[in-house]
Amino acid sequence: MARRFYVGLLYFSEGLGDALIEAINAQPPALDRHGEEVELVAEHMEITEFDIDYETHYSLVVDRASHRLPIARGVLMNHAFRGVHVINNPLSFHFFIAHKDVGYSIVRRLGVRVPPTFILPPRSSPGFTPSDFRFHREFRWEEMMRKVGFPCYLKPAEGRGAWGVSKCRDMQELLEAYNNSGNDSMTVQAAVDSPHEWQIRCLCIGREILPMKYVFRFGDRSEYLPEQDFLDAETRREVIDSCRIINRAFGYEMNSVEFMLDREGKPWAIDFNNPVPDGRMSQLGERFHGFYVDALAGRAREIAIQKPPPRFLPELNVFSEIATRGRTTAERRALALAQASHYYDGMPGIRRP
Ligand SMILES: Nc1ncnc2c1ncn2[C@@H]1O[C@H](COP(=O)(O)OP(=O)(O)OP(=O)(O)O)[C@@H](O)[C@H]1O
Ligand SMILES: [Mg+2]
Repeated sequence: MARRFYVGLLYFSEGLGDALIEAINAQPPALDRHGEEVELVAEHMEITEFDIDYETHYSLVVDRASHRLPIARGVLMNHAFRGVHVINNPLSFHFFIAHKDVGYSIVRRLGVRVPPTFILPPRSSPGFTPSDFRFHREFRWEEMMRKVGFPCYLKPAEGRGAWGVSKCRDMQELLEAYNNSGNDSMTVQAAVDSPHEWQIRCLCIGREILPMKYVFRFGDRSEYLPEQDFLDAETRREVIDSCRIINRAFGYEMNSVEFMLDREGKPWAIDFNNPVPDGRMSQLGERFHGFYVDALAGRAREIAIQKPPPRFLPELNVFSEIATRGRTTAERRALALAQASHYYDGMPGIRRP
């Protein structure tokens, strides 16, 4: 009898989750690397009370909910600790989604083109008194903005759904936006001056990376354009390589990465902490939605076959070594890319797209 490999999916009422369960369960059994038959069985994961001594039958969990469901964070952390493969790694997910600011600096250091960015302490900090901050100094706005320039974007370090994002054309607008930013750590980032109304959003699932044309609009009115092959070979290569570095440094197997092209056609990464990428058929359209489901089902199958060693901690140590070892940006990028390639190119016997 085939070995059963249970996949738990955690999601709310999204069609992508249902489609994924169907796609995984429809796959015929596979042969693992020892020649043994393995049958994937996917189901919606139950979240209820947990005995700390609980056992789980899952070998893989796909997490599309823990950003909105705090109980799941501890549960999945426990699963990961006991060797369950969790997509995405819970520590990566919850640290980086809340600290986009750290993400900007890590990947810029690894040679990904990220616009000049400053991190600002929150405008207000309830629970502190002015004397708690006696060692702090006023921001050097003028100096900061000489490096960043106008226009710029002010964005929360813990941002999603474009909430709290403002474009500022001058110092007055920037100060006003910052003064209204409340208790959040903020980032000020140089605006990429793009000649296009669209930008690039790469859907990254397992080892597959799909650049899509994307028009951002506030208020959930963004749009994916169906056009394919809209990048020249060199730009496409740079974008995909940057996604590889970003995803491996953070330990993400499911992410979307956004780039804007400047007037010279150079891609700049501006948002790359989206561990639960938009999965709505109504937004993505059939083709991109189909890619998403196939890529996730394919990754589940690869894991069942290959059984890669589970990683409780993301692989950041090796990237941190590269950050300190590489002398130039180009050298760091090359080293980071070579490291990322172990994941992207390093599993022989598996279908490549
Ligand atoms: N540095 C920048 N240069 C040019 N445009 C930018 C920059 N930063 C952000 N934007 C624009 O603002 C949009 C929202 O910003 P960002 O993606 O960082 O926020 P978010 O909270 O992650 O939004 P979402 O969840 O919709 O991706 C981007 O998609 C882009 O169109
Ligand atoms: Mg974004």
